Amino acid sequence: MQIKIAKDYAEMSRLAADMISRLIEDRPDAVLGLATGSTPVGLYEELVKRHKAGLDFSRVTTFNLDEYYGLHGEHPASYNYYMWEHLFGKINISQEKVNLPNGAAPDPEEECRRYEDKIAAAGGIDLQILGIGSNAHIGFNEPGTPFGSVTSLVKLAPATIQANARFFEREEDVPRKAFSMGIKSIMRCRSIVLLANGEGKADAVAAAVQGPVTEEVPASVLQLHPNCTFILDEAAAKKLSC
Ligand code: PGA
Repeated sequence: MQIKIAKDYAEMSRLAADMISRLIEDRPDAVLGLATGSTPVGLYEELVKRHKAGLDFSRVTTFNLDEYYGLHGEHPASYNYYMWEHLFGKINISQEKVNLPNGAAPDPEEECRRYEDKIAAAGGIDLQILGIGSNAHIGFNEPGTPFGSVTSLVKLAPATIQANARFFEREEDVPRKAFSMGIKSIMRCRSIVLLANGEGKADAVAAAVQGPVTEEVPASVLQLHPNCTFILDEAAAKKLSC
């Protein structure tokens, strides 16, 4: 696991954008794994800037980590909507190369199989961006999720529902379930970049990096990945002992 400590959120976002830009320059048909939430907003702003300066996304394929169950892709709180707002609508990516689980899928089990098969058919993910929950979840893989899990319909932890209530009018409106790539699906990615900023993530980051590898701390599994980088701002790195 490589740890990069940025002086602030803007630098964290730039370092992550550098890694993605390098990948796309080397491999114009790269397969990217993307995340939502507050953390990667700055990364997507950087990628939009780089696109304006010439970075070409026309052959890039993307897979998002997760999507709320029961929300249509046009719902403003859906992750599909978020991705078009923050990134896809502002770069030259082709709509057919963009993939998210369909939150309105009538048959959830079939949807999970379809998603895993599609990732496999694309040749797997070259670089996966992750955020981390304050409970150390990755994707919507909450504490206790088996490390062998693949894409599935999962229940959100009460802490996650509370944390995500800011994107909805009322906490009751936050869906209780979501589709999420599993821990095993994440570990299959050829490289992983986890971003974390702010003091609220410091305990989760320390547990993930320095604690035991345990299903109770989902992000701790990343200690076992051969090509994983954590990019942290100083506040999120505050509880690391080295
Ligand atoms: P955040 O979410 O980026 O909104 O903090 C991260 C996560 O829950 O994975």
